Amino acid sequence: MTNNKTYFVANWKMHGSLNSVNSIKNVIKLSKKSKYKNAKIVYCPPYTLISHFVEKTKKTKIDIGAQNCHFKKKFGSFTGSVNANMIKNIGSKFVIIGHSEIRSIGDTNKSINLKIKSALKANLKVIFCFGETLKEKRSKKTNKVLNYQIKNGLTKIGNIKNIFFAYEPVWSIGTGIIPKINELDKQVRKIKQIIRKNYKVNNAKVLYGGSVNSQNIVTLKKISSINGFLIGGASLNSKNFIDIIKKTIN
Ligand code: 13P
Repeated sequence: MTNNKTYFVANWKMHGSLNSVNSIKNVIKLSKKSKYKNAKIVYCPPYTLISHFVEKTKKTKIDIGAQNCHFKKKFGSFTGSVNANMIKNIGSKFVIIGHSEIRSIGDTNKSINLKIKSALKANLKVIFCFGETLKEKRSKKTNKVLNYQIKNGLTKIGNIKNIFFAYEPVWSIGTGIIPKINELDKQVRKIKQIIRKNYKVNNAKVLYGGSVNSQNIVTLKKISSINGFLIGGASLNSKNFIDIIKKTIN
């Protein structure tokens, strides 16, 4: 890991009820200890719980994010949708955009690009996800795919200072399988190189997501190019999430 802030983003996906809000109390406690001042914790619960999480974490350094947004920034007739301004309005600071689970039900590089633009306009920080499928990896297309997703997702976006890049190989999400450590390090460095080349930014934050848990974190944290983790299943249980943070920071 780098010596700067390390990001721990909990993506709760379609999990959580009102009772779950209280379950994060030990994470809040941990976040207040000076030993963990460099651990930047972000919770992305489902829309239904965002306000409750904002309330629960006020007066802490924990930030709250949403898991998606509509690409339109104004109100409109889009049943079932929530836009970036609405997310900002209830106290979220982040939004995840481009997650493969949403790409798989219709999100395209074009819609992702529009969503990122509207989220940045709403003053949200964006966690921009991308990653290759197993088929693409097997046919050695990973670099091409990542390049394409990053460039198209960011078309006509000049300022990327509020964008966090989240490399999530699709084949790793929810499977318990993580990339080989040297390959992951190489891949993250390549991603940083793409960002440097295209956006002239040297200090972009790249997170890794895919089956991060309290065991494999011991190995993952050794990868110095990674700035943090996007954690699904293992973030649902506070004890597991705390273990991940403690093992990374120790
Ligand atoms: P898992 O940690 O459950 O594999 O999910 C990763 C992910 O999709 C985070 O966005």
